[in-house]
Amino acid sequence: MLTVTDLNVYYGAIHAVKGISLEVNEGEIVTLIGANGAGKSTTLQTISGLLRPRTGTVTFLGEPITNLPAHKRVERGLAQVPEGRRIFLSMTVAENLEMGAYSQRGADTASGMEQVFTLFPRLQERRKQIAGTLSGGEQQMLAMGRSLMSRPKLLMLDEPSMGLAPILVEQIFSTIVEMNRAGTTILLVEQNAQMALSVAGRAYVLETGQIVMQGNARELSGNEEVKKAYLGG
Ligand SMILES: Nc1ncnc2c1ncn2[C@@H]1O[C@H](COP(=O)(O)OP(=O)(O)O)[C@@H](O)[C@H]1O
Ligand SMILES: [Mg+2]
Repeated sequence: MLTVTDLNVYYGAIHAVKGISLEVNEGEIVTLIGANGAGKSTTLQTISGLLRPRTGTVTFLGEPITNLPAHKRVERGLAQVPEGRRIFLSMTVAENLEMGAYSQRGADTASGMEQVFTLFPRLQERRKQIAGTLSGGEQQMLAMGRSLMSRPKLLMLDEPSMGLAPILVEQIFSTIVEMNRAGTTILLVEQNAQMALSVAGRAYVLETGQIVMQGNARELSGNEEVKKAYLGG
């Protein structure tokens, strides 16, 4: 579904992503784990089109999209839930969700919203509430719901667990599994390697802009090096 080949991304002179190649197949949950500064967000933003690579290619559903603007990628079914949520804090929950449907060009917003509310009943209860007054967990749900409004085939999530209490982290991760079972392919970026490896089928480990390990998520979570570096021993 998604193929990234030999991606190199720079911020001025800083070489943030150094020759990353990865693949996501339809139906998978794939996770990209690594410490702060490893290049996870840079990789996701390059796939979603917010950053341009200096070299390398991104292919989605068999077509090269390396030079396609971000909104065109959303139209093709590639959506991202950004790091730090980035919801519209002064708008209501419902208005935020409507904003997420813009790529659908007036198609059935109501049925999209119904699907989001099935997944997140909490958002339905709060649909008229101003987003800035939601709790951190609810804001993360809203950010996920807003992305789902574009009906993505592949949804990329950047650190959805960041700053959330453990109970909410559990809830967010079980929703990710639920979305995947409902047919959405997932590329999940996380510093919380333990949780990410528990829901993913495959994983890539990133260190200073490079993939240093990859494979079956269960096998990686039992790997001594991974345990020592990312799972607290
Ligand atoms: N806007 C930016 N300008 C300059 N350097 C950046 C910028 N964003 C990220 N970096 C650098 O690029 C590297 C990768 O960052 P990032 O992709 O955000 O990592 P991660 O998401 O894994 O924490 C880091 O060294 C970071 O300092
Ligand atoms: Mg990041």
